[in-house]
Amino acid sequence: MKLHKKLTTASGRPYVENENSQSVGSRGPLLLQDYILHEKMAHFNRERIPERVVHAKGSGAFGTFTVTHDITKYTKAKIFSEIGKETKMLLRFSTVGGEKGSADTERDPRGFAMKFYTEDGNWDLVGNNTPVFFVKDPKKFDDFIHTQKRDPHTNLKSPTMMWDYWSLNPESLHQVLILMSDRGTPYGYRHMNGYGSHTYSMIDAANRRTYVKFHFKTAQGIRNFTNEEAAQMKAHDMDFAQRDLIENIDAGNFPKWDLKIQVMSEEEALSQDYYLNPFDLTKVWPHGDYPLIDVGVVELNQNPHNYFQDIEQAAFAPAHIVDGIGYSPDKMLQGRLLSYPDAHRYRLGTNYEQIPVNRCPFATNNYQRDGQMRVDGNGGENPNYFPNSFDGMEIDSAYQEPPLPIDSPYADWYDRNCEGENDHFTQPGNLFKIMTPEQQLNTINNIIGAMSGIEGPKKAEIVNRQLSHWYRADGRLGAAIADGLGVDVDMEEPE
Ligand code: HEM
Repeated sequence: MKLHKKLTTASGRPYVENENSQSVGSRGPLLLQDYILHEKMAHFNRERIPERVVHAKGSGAFGTFTVTHDITKYTKAKIFSEIGKETKMLLRFSTVGGEKGSADTERDPRGFAMKFYTEDGNWDLVGNNTPVFFVKDPKKFDDFIHTQKRDPHTNLKSPTMMWDYWSLNPESLHQVLILMSDRGTPYGYRHMNGYGSHTYSMIDAANRRTYVKFHFKTAQGIRNFTNEEAAQMKAHDMDFAQRDLIENIDAGNFPKWDLKIQVMSEEEALSQDYYLNPFDLTKVWPHGDYPLIDVGVVELNQNPHNYFQDIEQAAFAPAHIVDGIGYSPDKMLQGRLLSYPDAHRYRLGTNYEQIPVNRCPFATNNYQRDGQMRVDGNGGENPNYFPNSFDGMEIDSAYQEPPLPIDSPYADWYDRNCEGENDHFTQPGNLFKIMTPEQQLNTINNIIGAMSGIEGPKKAEIVNRQLSHWYRADGRLGAAIADGLGVDVDMEEPE
């Protein structure tokens, strides 16, 4: 049935003059008093908010998380409290380096950001489709991202900047290898895994801590574009992943992911007995040592009715944890705790948590007041300070986390790649070895193609430095890339 609604100004005044501005005479100038013209132009001028500084191009949908297995021995988080329990959630996928209008099929990691609306608050798990990352310390993030964006002079993407940075930071090798494999060009968002990537913690009912990694395995099966297919799709449909997601959900073909965790005891994680630093984001925990444990299923089953409202305004933050789930000493995670809410305050404003998609649908009670765009009642007549004698607000000590043991009383700028933490090569080498011959070949060709873009006076230096990393990971990989690039390694001076 067609609804009969009156056209109004934003303040609610019904009006008729929507398409003709008020003028002096039919051919004369316009009048300043045509407020409707001002309002239309002024609001239009403010339609864009800053795009995300990274992960600007994205797609998202709502869904449910359902518990299938009991993990209450690790966590008291209410979301995991019983088998069969369902929690509403939001998932936003994204590419990383491109602008909001860039192509969905670019070679790039993919964001996998989730918000679970739990009774104890919104839990955000802001991950990627890769279990590792390029750098180990948050101080490096802005430099790294600059190399993925546009060259300040040419305003072009620059393979020279990228490989210069990666070759100078061999800790990136593991993630660069994944990026250069066909997993760097996934077939939309439904056919890739998601990872929390960092080590997080879980706290059980007795307030004991364990460390965990989160894995979301696609039930649709892994499917990737080859480099050529991705380029063709880019020319054909820049928004392939958005279209694929919305059309499948509209058709009732709801994508699913199986949540699994790896678990490490606090004693083991802190003992430094394990050969890896369990809080190093450039490393995976080998599944042979830490097997995957089933937890539940994420299903996306509802497209947002309005993209801007629910996806562009979505604000995810690794700082948003809930009782039973905690942070870890992973330096990158620690940096992200600050960075995301700070980005949201800039992009969406200080009251970004009140935007419906970000708002906890259960209780939020605190003494934060005022600020731009405060729309939640602002605490009404209630006291705006704590403690007070009036509102009966209580602190529930059951929510207190156990204290965190630390390994040293000394604050310093510790080298993240010190002796024992500087093996950047074994895990990428192992990953290359378990690839099928076809995957290896595609990866080699993708690397050759990408490194062929290095140019300028430092070209030989950058190529050689990166080649030495590939060699150290796997001799056959290094030799194949050198061959493809036409570099005669026997002729090169060692670094
Ligand atoms: C210290 C390292 C990092 C910093 C400082 C950082 C910072 C940021 C910032 C500022 C944004 C934009 C937020 C917004 O405006 O809404 C963002 C988005 C994002 N980041 Fe990071 N990031 C870091 C590392 C990572 C890592 C390791 C992952 C994955 C494991 C990751 C995944 C994401 C995702 C998925 C988004 C998009 C969230 C969305 O869909 O809205 N980031 N990051």
